[in-house]
Amino acid sequence: MWTRALLFTAALAALAALTAADDIAEDARLDVPALVRKYGYPLEEHEVVTEDGYVLTAHRIPHARGASPAAPRVPVLVMHGLLCSSADFLVLGPGRALGYVLADAGYDVWLGNARGNHYSRRHRALDPDERAEQRFWRFSWDEIGERDLPALLERVRAVTGHRRVHYVGYSQGTTALLVLLALRPQYNARLLSFHALAPAAFVDYHDDPGKDFLVRLESVLDTLAFRHGFGEVMPRSAAMTELGLRLCSDGAPSQPLCARLVLGEGEYFNKTLLPVFLGHNPAGAGVRQILHYAQVQRFGRFARYNFDPLTNLARYGSLQPPEYDVRRVRVPTHLHYAMSDRNSLYQNVLVLARHLGTFAALHRVPRHSFNHYDFIWGGDARAQVYDAVVAALRAHDAA
Ligand SMILES: *[C@@H]1O[C@H](CO)[C@@H](O)[C@H](O)[C@H]1NC(C)=O
Repeated sequence: MWTRALLFTAALAALAALTAADDIAEDARLDVPALVRKYGYPLEEHEVVTEDGYVLTAHRIPHARGASPAAPRVPVLVMHGLLCSSADFLVLGPGRALGYVLADAGYDVWLGNARGNHYSRRHRALDPDERAEQRFWRFSWDEIGERDLPALLERVRAVTGHRRVHYVGYSQGTTALLVLLALRPQYNARLLSFHALAPAAFVDYHDDPGKDFLVRLESVLDTLAFRHGFGEVMPRSAAMTELGLRLCSDGAPSQPLCARLVLGEGEYFNKTLLPVFLGHNPAGAGVRQILHYAQVQRFGRFARYNFDPLTNLARYGSLQPPEYDVRRVRVPTHLHYAMSDRNSLYQNVLVLARHLGTFAALHRVPRHSFNHYDFIWGGDARAQVYDAVVAALRAHDAA
């Protein structure tokens, strides 16, 4: 009798494991709209055209599961990092991922996608796959800040009637808002508050001599990339997704290696989810987004994109690109930084805080080993960061 019970239990366990594995494979392959709807949340897709013709997709989760659509909600615009997309705020799943946590907290959640990524790889006139001049790909996060963000904010206003919204950025998503407010300070009036996860702006400190060498090659790489048709870097690909499923799934002998390569040393990542992370990230970017960060480090200036001196003169009226004046940021800003973040060193976040002055509040993530990827993939991201973000959002709702 007990053997049958045992067999039955074993079969149930195997079935549960199988379902879990199926879920992982499905979540790795689905696009954002299907992924969100699978978990019972409402999802709207909004097509947004920028003043220079890029066609972006914003993903909106207007309210929580089972909540009344009519209740008043404050919109939050959330912007992803370099090579990322709106999906990175969802892959941890309901109860854990920032997108769902914000919706559950009563916010109207708008997940933007910057020009060039998987969801925003379109233009009214330019072809992203045109090989010769790569005109589509001639942009950095300067354009993302100056042009994509206004288009997204305007759409949120048009749909919700809210002129002022909260903004949450991760890494490059924080850079982009600083760019916007420095170049078009009138946008201060459109924001209730700014929550910067792993802020990226000034690079006064760096700790990786290997990177210094690459950084000095930035202008060569710019020329080479456009001459040889490499304006786009690391687009989302089905091959990568399948590779992630094969090599990084539970039970795969290569999973530990895969985890170390993708996640670093973190012990708080749920390795079961690795194929889901890799199914959605990298999601593509323009090569200049990377080179622009290299310039910030190379020249020690948080400044606009550096071309050759003549082009600089024509564009900016000076031989050197002008610095972004972050003293124009006049929004309550919460800087969330982590002590083990190698991409946004805490020393550099403190420099940014000094420039922002009284508008900035600093929040150190409690767990010392928290790193750059923990902000989107950490199993404890909610407890370490997101709950604090929600608390800070609430404090600015009525502003
Ligand atoms: C890791 O993720 C899987 C799949 O979502 C889930 O079943 C499991 O409970 C998670 N483990 C932890 C420790 O959170």
